Amino acid sequence: MAKIRVLMVCLGNICRSPMAHGVFAARIREHGLEHAIEVDSAGTAGYHVGAKPDRRASQEARSRGYDLDDLRARQLEPEDFLEFDYILTMDDANYRNAEAIRPPEARAKLLRFLDFAPQFDEHEVPDPYYGGDEGFVHVMDLVEAAADGLLAHIRERHTLKAS
Ligand code: 4NP
Repeated sequence: MAKIRVLMVCLGNICRSPMAHGVFAARIREHGLEHAIEVDSAGTAGYHVGAKPDRRASQEARSRGYDLDDLRARQLEPEDFLEFDYILTMDDANYRNAEAIRPPEARAKLLRFLDFAPQFDEHEVPDPYYGGDEGFVHVMDLVEAAADGLLAHIRERHTLKAS
């Protein structure tokens, strides 16, 4: 069976989407679903292509047991809509920018990541780049909740079993 492919998207692919990538990858492993689901991340902008995650993102992730060291930024491309099943955007600007390059033959579902964290009132993962460390703590709280919700959604829709 083809793997279900999930792509996390923000603006720069150095803060929010790498955090979402690292957390979701850990959830896939914890649930024994590496054979069934894979995750990647990208940014709608190309400013940071090839860069490692922001140090503050890596530190907050590490403090909660996630390792982002091997991730490198890349830019979202129209072809991603053909290769992925789910494209999850962190905020509304990311959603609009992704929608603008979605090809007509897209197979990916374009969704807002925080739709999977209904316990939070927020609908966007706020951009932490120009703020302080506390912004990264909050991003991680949102991302962990949405990752759990997304995994539950995918498991239910695709009736996946652990290996
Ligand atoms: P991200 O954060 O979209 O969560 O990766 C940002 C990273 C870089 C910039 C903005 C947001 N920037 O303007 O360079």
